[in-house]
Amino acid sequence: MESDRIKWNARYQSEDSFLGEHPSPFLAREIERVKALVPGPKALDIACGEGRNSVFLARHGFRVTGLDISDTGLEKGKNRAQTMGLAVEFRRVDLDDYSIQGTFDLILNFNFLLRELIPFEVAALNPGGVLLYDTIMASDQLIQIHKPAYLLQPGELSRLFGTFQGEVLFSEESMSGEMPTARVLFRKTGFTAE
Ligand SMILES: C[S@@+](CC[C@H](N)C(=O)[O-])C[C@H]1O[C@@H](n2cnc3c(N)ncnc32)[C@H](O)[C@@H]1O
Repeated sequence: MESDRIKWNARYQSEDSFLGEHPSPFLAREIERVKALVPGPKALDIACGEGRNSVFLARHGFRVTGLDISDTGLEKGKNRAQTMGLAVEFRRVDLDDYSIQGTFDLILNFNFLLRELIPFEVAALNPGGVLLYDTIMASDQLIQIHKPAYLLQPGELSRLFGTFQGEVLFSEESMSGEMPTARVLFRKTGFTAE
């Protein structure tokens, strides 16, 4: 939506680095396990923002595509990748109206909730591919105001991923702190031997 582009461009213009330079702590913690699990190097970072996680994956040898609606965020991601001598393909798309192109060995969906997209993310995984999902939950402790539709309900994420062909290898909800989050590490079913 155009209003999302305007809102996020303004946020990314207002600060050097809106969500910080470091990758998500969940991704940093799980990267070695993810590398051991994935069937290949193709990765997709959904709503990649300023590219902190895309760049981290590229540093770990992944061939990364980062998608986002904010041209300002993507520009910062491009500059960051270039400075580090890394190749990342950043593409401006509106995920409200987008079909994922191609298939991937790893998909990240961090701090962004579009429930309708989740089945398409799973469909875009190669057999044995891994999806990391980590986003905000509804809670009285949230200090920022968020649209209710953009917040997960307790138990919702693991329930959702439990319906797909594959395995939830890790699931966690942390209700403490000012930003309660839910996260899962899902692995799609691989090829089965005849
Ligand atoms: C909280 S930020 C998360 C950025 C990144 N995933 C991270 O964790 O660093 C949410 C991102 O969603 C993007 N976004 C919001 N609506 C979008 C849409 N309709 N299509 C694509 N990206 C969108 C914003 O531009 C923003 O970069």
